[in-house]
Amino acid sequence: MTNTAFFELLKTRRSIRKFSSEQISEEQKALLMKAALMAPTAKHCNAWEFVVVEQTDTICKLSECRPTGSQFMKHAPLVVVVAVNKEKSTAWVEDASIASAFIQLQAHSMGLGSCWVQVNGRMKDETVDTESYVRALLGMPETLGIVCMIAIGRPVEHKNAFEEDKLQFEKVHNERYHEK
Ligand SMILES: Cc1cc2nc3c(=O)[nH]c(=O)nc-3n(C[C@H](O)[C@H](O)[C@H](O)COP(=O)(O)O)c2cc1C
Repeated sequence: MTNTAFFELLKTRRSIRKFSSEQISEEQKALLMKAALMAPTAKHCNAWEFVVVEQTDTICKLSECRPTGSQFMKHAPLVVVVAVNKEKSTAWVEDASIASAFIQLQAHSMGLGSCWVQVNGRMKDETVDTESYVRALLGMPETLGIVCMIAIGRPVEHKNAFEEDKLQFEKVHNERYHEK
């Protein structure tokens, strides 16, 4: 069986955290957002809201949203903040997550690298949660649940593709769950 182009895309996508300073073109940005807007949603509510950030000072502040795990974002030329209106979606985390994965795969298909930075459920410090910090910074209302930010840019690090024979096939159960 020959691998499809889509399978190759899945196999070679890895989280990229080191980016060149090259800006993302308008055309690339448009394709990234078109991909997000084609993601499926619960009851077809399409309740997502995407904030596309390119201003260096804003990205720098966003990268400080957590004590660890977000600092690398400082050097990303583009960050897409992915949120969903919690009053309109019955599955807002899932809706945001699928759109985020679509953005990441579209980015990879264009030779761009990306990495997810978790917002929902994380703390900036002992008193401020990450979501409130990002919300205040970008002027987003309380009705929006912010799930993550996708940092995107031209990769300056190489990550190996997945090796098919090393995938965790023990996670796959036939017909019913079997303890392994
Ligand atoms: C729900 C979720 C949250 C994540 N949060 C972060 C994060 O906050 N910071 C980060 O650097 N990477 C984050 N990642 C990226 C993972 O660390 C990465 O996907 C994982 O290590 C597997 O590596 P790969 O994407 O190269 O296959 C997150 C990924 C997911 C799916």
